[in-house]
Amino acid sequence: MKEFNISTNVFFGENCLDRLDQVQGKRVIIICDEFMVKSGVVDKIKAHLNGCQISVFSKTVPDPPIEVVSEGIQCLNEVQAEVMIAVGGGSAIDAAKAIRVIGHRLGLTNIEECFAIPTTSGTGSEVTKFSVITNKREGVKYPLIDQELQPMVAILDPDLVKTMPPSITADTGLDALTHALEAYVSIEATDFTDALSEKAVTLLMKFLPMAYQNGEDLLAREKVHNAACLAGMAFNTAGIGLCHSIAHAIGAKFHISHGRSNAMLLPEVILFNADLTNSEKTICARKLQRMAKLIGLPYTDVTVAVTGLSRRIEGMKRSFGIPMNLKGLGIDPQEVMKQKDSIIEAALADACTKTNPRKVTAEDIEGILKKVTPL
Ligand SMILES: NC(=O)c1ccc[n+]([C@@H]2O[C@H](COP(=O)([O-])OP(=O)(O)OC[C@H]3O[C@@H](n4cnc5c(N)ncnc54)[C@H](O)[C@@H]3O)[C@@H](O)[C@H]2O)c1
Ligand SMILES: [Fe+2]
Repeated sequence: MKEFNISTNVFFGENCLDRLDQVQGKRVIIICDEFMVKSGVVDKIKAHLNGCQISVFSKTVPDPPIEVVSEGIQCLNEVQAEVMIAVGGGSAIDAAKAIRVIGHRLGLTNIEECFAIPTTSGTGSEVTKFSVITNKREGVKYPLIDQELQPMVAILDPDLVKTMPPSITADTGLDALTHALEAYVSIEATDFTDALSEKAVTLLMKFLPMAYQNGEDLLAREKVHNAACLAGMAFNTAGIGLCHSIAHAIGAKFHISHGRSNAMLLPEVILFNADLTNSEKTICARKLQRMAKLIGLPYTDVTVAVTGLSRRIEGMKRSFGIPMNLKGLGIDPQEVMKQKDSIIEAALADACTKTNPRKVTAEDIEGILKKVTPL
């Protein structure tokens, strides 16, 4: 038996922040980073909350560490909030999700309603049961997976993503593309998640370059924002794969943005998973062939279709100015090779590896690492 559900209520389109008008007379905590306070986003949200007692915890940072989560729990306990509003990129939303659920499990708080308002178009965290927390001391990122982490309400306002500079638009957009493609070939993929992945990929291929070129293009922003959420819905059920497992391992050690780590690895992981030298064409290769067809690439031959898809992503990265390998990201290749055993160990243990379409060995990961680490 398989199951598919989307339990988060999603509000989108013009004036969707108006959903917050229904929050009245409550103790509210807003969880975000300093940028959201300084750029006026927090004030925009406050303007919708009538008669509420509002506290702001603005200490989240990219790749939220355990320490921020624990400080957030203390703050939540002090203010005894009834409603939580997480606003920001995936990092702020992930931190808020962990703060709420761990705070609840410790018996400290009980949030009645939680909102996630993404300001990047990438992680899909607003609709997922995942929260990625970093253990800085050990240099490891842990994806927590629990149904309770799923936000109750997501608000997708394209106006809030207009301020993303091109580099963040590119990194986060390629993260969304990775979610859609990894969910598509996951061993848990179904007709339901495939529909979401296919729509997400076609939207991203068309509109991400437009949003990158002109951040004020509201239609492109809206389509990319929706695509990231659709991809989140897909991988929330289907799971993701090896690209994310290695990205988590590398990201935690070398502090590269999550989307950029995925972007660097995705073309290589596609080729690895498709296993094109296998004379029996794999299900993964055939699905990628179908995706190539959907986005208008030559598709009649499996090998041509899959390599075309991988090259198309390389081309997008090049046009977004994203370096092709770790050296281009300023990371010393010797250092990567020195840490390779712990990177491989973390990637093999990562929860995302379980749903990867091809079984993975330490040697396989080493092979992929070498491809993105030219000496
Ligand atoms: N929970 C999930 O399902 C899931 C999935 C994938 C990734 N993640 C995690 O999410 C995190 C990455 O999130 P992200 O890629 O959204 O980036 P982020 O949240 O780390 O933000 C990156 C930077 O962008 C800035 N920013 C955010 N919105 C902006 C805007 N509108 N204008 C200008 N600047 C803005 C932030 O202040 C920050 O400095 C990683 O920790 C990753 O592991 C979670
Ligand atoms: Fe991701």
